[in-house]
Amino acid sequence: MDYQLCPSILAADFNRLGEQIRCLEEEGIKYLHIDVMDGFFVPSISFGMPVIRSIRKESGLFFDVHLMVAAPERYIQEFVDCGADSITVHVEACENPVQVLKQIHALGVRAGVSVKPSTPIKEIASLLGEADMVLVMTVEPGFGGQTYMNSCTEKIRELRGLIEKDRRPVDIQVDGGMTDDTLGTVLAAGANLIVAGSWVFHGEVRANVKHITERIQEFVSSEGGREWMQ
Ligand code: DX5
Ligand code: ZN
Repeated sequence: MDYQLCPSILAADFNRLGEQIRCLEEEGIKYLHIDVMDGFFVPSISFGMPVIRSIRKESGLFFDVHLMVAAPERYIQEFVDCGADSITVHVEACENPVQVLKQIHALGVRAGVSVKPSTPIKEIASLLGEADMVLVMTVEPGFGGQTYMNSCTEKIRELRGLIEKDRRPVDIQVDGGMTDDTLGTVLAAGANLIVAGSWVFHGEVRANVKHITERIQEFVSSEGGREWMQ
C-alpha cells in the first residue's frame, strides 16, 4: 500500500504559490491536492482552471483534483486539459456516478469518488470497481481549518473492510481536520492518502512536511502499518 501526504493548496499563500509548491517537491512530496469549489455544491468558491494550468507549467507533482462542483461531468475534459492526473467527484453531485467515473478514465487519468460526512459508505459500495480512490471527507466540504469529525472514523474502517474483502486496489483518502491528534486515528482505521491543508501551510512549510511525513513513516513501519502493506 502506498502512503502519501497530499498537501492541499487551499491553505497555501497564493502570493507565493510557486515557491511553496517547489518546497513541497524538494521535501519529496508526490501528490498535490487541489480543491475546486463552485459556490453551489459547497458554499464557498476557491479557484479553477487558470490556476491549475499555471502551476502545471512549473510542477511535476501528481495533480489530485478534488471537484466540489455540482454536475462535474460538465468539466472533466477541461480539468484533464489543464493538467489533472486524478479527478475526484462527489457522489452527491452526480446524477450517474458510474458514468462520470468512466468518463474520467476514458480521458486517461485516475478517478476518485468522494463522500460527505453524512453520506454512508453503502452509497459508494457499488462504485468500488470503477474508482481508483475513495475520498472520505472528514469535515463538511467547503472550508479549510475545520475540526475532524469523529463520526467519520468508523466509515474509513468500514470502507477498508470492503476493499480488503473484494481485494480491490482502491486507495482511501481522507480530507479535513488532520493534526497530530487525528493522523494516527485515520491511519489505524485504514486511510493511506492523507490530505492536509492548514497543517502543512500554516507556519513553516518545510518543517511541517518533514514532521508529518515522519509521523506517517513511523506508522507504516509499526505493526498497524505492516498489516496494510501486503
Ligand atoms: C475542504 C477541502 C480540504 C481542505 C482541508 O473542503 O476539501 O482539502 O483544504 O483543510 P484542512 O487540512 O485545513 O482541514
Ligand atoms: Zn479536498
